[in-house]
Amino acid sequence: MRIDIITVLPELLESPFRASILKRAEEKGLVEVHLHQLRDYTDNRYRQVDDYQFGGGAGMVLMVEPIDRCISELKAQRTYDEIIYMTPDGETLDQKMANRLSLLENMIILCGHYKGVDQRVRDLFVTREVSIGDYVLSGGELGAAVLCDAVIRLLPGVLNDETSALTDTFQDNLLAPPVYTRPREYKGLQVPEVLLSGDFPKIEKWREEQAQARTKARRPDLLK
Ligand code: 6GU
Repeated sequence: MRIDIITVLPELLESPFRASILKRAEEKGLVEVHLHQLRDYTDNRYRQVDDYQFGGGAGMVLMVEPIDRCISELKAQRTYDEIIYMTPDGETLDQKMANRLSLLENMIILCGHYKGVDQRVRDLFVTREVSIGDYVLSGGELGAAVLCDAVIRLLPGVLNDETSALTDTFQDNLLAPPVYTRPREYKGLQVPEVLLSGDFPKIEKWREEQAQARTKARRPDLLK
């Protein structure tokens, strides 16, 4: 998979991709993430990529031309399955969307800023608009990092057995059951006996029940 991210703040995205699972995925050659500074795609003397909105109102808008240049340059080199615009008014990211996106070969992620991008960017280039939840961030970068993490960890070979995505919360529309490690007792709290029993069918049954109970208590909406 190849992901090209267009942003005015590439610095904000560098550290997530330099650490942890994302770094390992890149090192293993399972994903390539390329960050593109939008300001590199303007002839403007001051590298300005935003301007006041027509009609008046507070807040700057990212201009169509530098974004067109950047996207066109990328599209001339390969075919993209999706051009995703990160925006609070997009479709909310969930596990199903992450699963689908993990099957793609090439995608572009455009990060909005300020008041967003000129509507013509959305009309001309964007194939999908994604939000990471009902709150407002100061830019799309953190959303892009979240999206990339959710997608990249699903690529075959990224996770090993121990970190397997198959038992994730949400993968079967259930929250994950409680987990324990050493010691067996801590400040009077015991590890449930069943987990120490070595009876795997019984352990599986317990985990399933716990997952159901937790989902019912915390996220009944998932059971519908
Ligand atoms: Cl993707 N961008 C911004 N600016 N705010 C958001 C968001 C994205 N998702 C939720 N809020």
